Amino acid sequence: MIPAPKKIKQYVKEFPLAGLYRFHFLSGGHDPILPKLASDIEKRLQHVSKYYEVDPRTKIDIVLNLQPFPSKKPDGYYELEVSPGFFALNAESIAGMNYAARTLMQHLYINRANQDEDSFALLPRISVKDWPTYQWRGMHLDVSRHFYDHNFVKKYLDWMVGLKFNRFHWHLSDDQGWRLESKRFPLLHEKGSWRTESDGSKYGGHYSLRQIKSVLKHARLRGIEVIPEIDIPGHSMAILAAYPELACFPREFEPMNVWGISEDILCAGKDETIEFLKELFTEIAELFPGQYIHLGGDEAPKQRWKECPHCQKRMRDNGLKDEEALQAWLVKTLATHLKKLGKTVIGWDEILDGGIDSKPVVMAWRGDGIDAARMAHDNGNKYILTPYTKLYFDARCHKLDKIGTHQIIFWSDVLGFSFQEYTFENPKLLLGAQGNVWTEHLTNVRDLREKVSGRMFPLAERLWNGDGEIDVQDFWMMASTLNWIL
Ligand code: ACM
Ligand code: ZN
Repeated sequence: MIPAPKKIKQYVKEFPLAGLYRFHFLSGGHDPILPKLASDIEKRLQHVSKYYEVDPRTKIDIVLNLQPFPSKKPDGYYELEVSPGFFALNAESIAGMNYAARTLMQHLYINRANQDEDSFALLPRISVKDWPTYQWRGMHLDVSRHFYDHNFVKKYLDWMVGLKFNRFHWHLSDDQGWRLESKRFPLLHEKGSWRTESDGSKYGGHYSLRQIKSVLKHARLRGIEVIPEIDIPGHSMAILAAYPELACFPREFEPMNVWGISEDILCAGKDETIEFLKELFTEIAELFPGQYIHLGGDEAPKQRWKECPHCQKRMRDNGLKDEEALQAWLVKTLATHLKKLGKTVIGWDEILDGGIDSKPVVMAWRGDGIDAARMAHDNGNKYILTPYTKLYFDARCHKLDKIGTHQIIFWSDVLGFSFQEYTFENPKLLLGAQGNVWTEHLTNVRDLREKVSGRMFPLAERLWNGDGEIDVQDFWMMASTLNWIL
C-alpha cells in the first residue's frame, strides 16, 4: 500500500468476500463523515463484486468507530481489522477515520487487481496500526495563473486524501488574477479576476462564497485543512488592478498577462494599505476555519519602496534600517492582527530576510531549501519544506517532457527525498513538506494530472514514513496498481 502502514500483520489465510455489507456507527454516529465514508467504502466493495463472484448469502459487518483511544496516540492514528465477516475501523479523528477507510480500500483494490479472472474474490486477513511521521503533508495549487474550478479542487482533495495528505495550500491571488469573492472589497473579484491576454481575449474567473464553502466542507469531511494564501506585498497586481491607490505610485494597473515579477507592489507606508490588509485578512480569517493563513511574502522587489515617501517615512518612524525590515514590520503587523483572530501566519522564506520573531511558520522554498530551513530553525520558527529544486511539481518530468518549467525533477528524485539534511538540533520545528503546483505552464487538468500524479505517490510515502530504505521496484509496481486513486 502507499503510503505503507507502519504496522501491518497479514495472515496467510484468505477468506471469500461476502456480497452484503452492513454498516454500524459507534459514537459520533451523528457526524456526517461516517455515512459519507460508508458510502465510499461500499462503492469500493461494489467495484470488487462487479468483477468477481461473491457469496450473496454471507454478509460483512463494517464498524466505523470514531471515539478517543484509551491511551495517547499520534495525530492521525488509526487501526484497521479485516477479518471474515467483520471489518473494524477505529480512529479518534475524522482524518484518522479517513485513513482507515483509505487503507481498507487500497487493500480491497490491490487484492482485486492481483486475482486471476475466474477465482472467487478472496481477501487476506489483515490487522493494521498506523500513524504518520510528519504532521504537515501538503499539496499546493496555484489557481491564479490558470484557474481551476471548485469541482476540480474537490477532485484534487480526493487525490490528496487517497494518499493521506492533510494540508491543502490554496494559492488564491497573484499578479495574474484574484480568485475569491470578497464581500468587503468586491472590486477584487469584479476587476482583479480577469486579465486581457495578448491576443485580446479575456481569461479569468473566481470562486463564489458558496463554492468556497462547498470546497471547505469537502475538505473537512476528508480531514484536510485548507490554507488560503493571499500573496502580499509582491505578486499583487490583481489587487492593485482593483484598488490602485494601495500602490506607492498609483496609476492604472491590470492583472498581468505575462509570467514574471512585477516591480509594483503594495505600499507598506500608507495607513490605508495597512487598514485594507487588516480588513481583508479578517474576512479571510472568518471564511476559512483552519489555524493557518498564508500571506506570501515572496519575490517582492523593493525599488518602489526605496523611492516612496510613505514607505521611507514608515521606516524612519519605526527605526527600520532597510526595506527588508519594512517587509518584516508588515508581516509582524498582520501576524499580530491575525493572532487576535486565533490564526497563525505562514510565509515564504523571504519573510526571514528582514528579521522576524519566531511566531510565523516558514515555507523553505529557495534553491534546495537547506539554507532557508537552517535560518528558520536557528530563529526558532517552525518550517515546512517546499524546495524549488525538489518539490516543485510543475517541473518537467524528464528530458523529452515539453510541458512545465525548465528544470527537470524525476519521479525517482521525489522518492529519494530525504528529511535528514533539513533536520537540525530541534527536530520538532520541522513540520513536514509539501508539493507545490504552480500553473504558469499547466493550462488544463490533463497536463496538471500528468505532472502531479507520479510525484504525489513518492511524496506521500516519504511524508508518512520519513527517511529509510525502500524497494524501488516494488514501490513503482504498487504505485501503478493504485493509479486509480488519481
Ligand atoms: C515561489 O515559488 N515564489 C514561492
Ligand atoms: Zn510606499
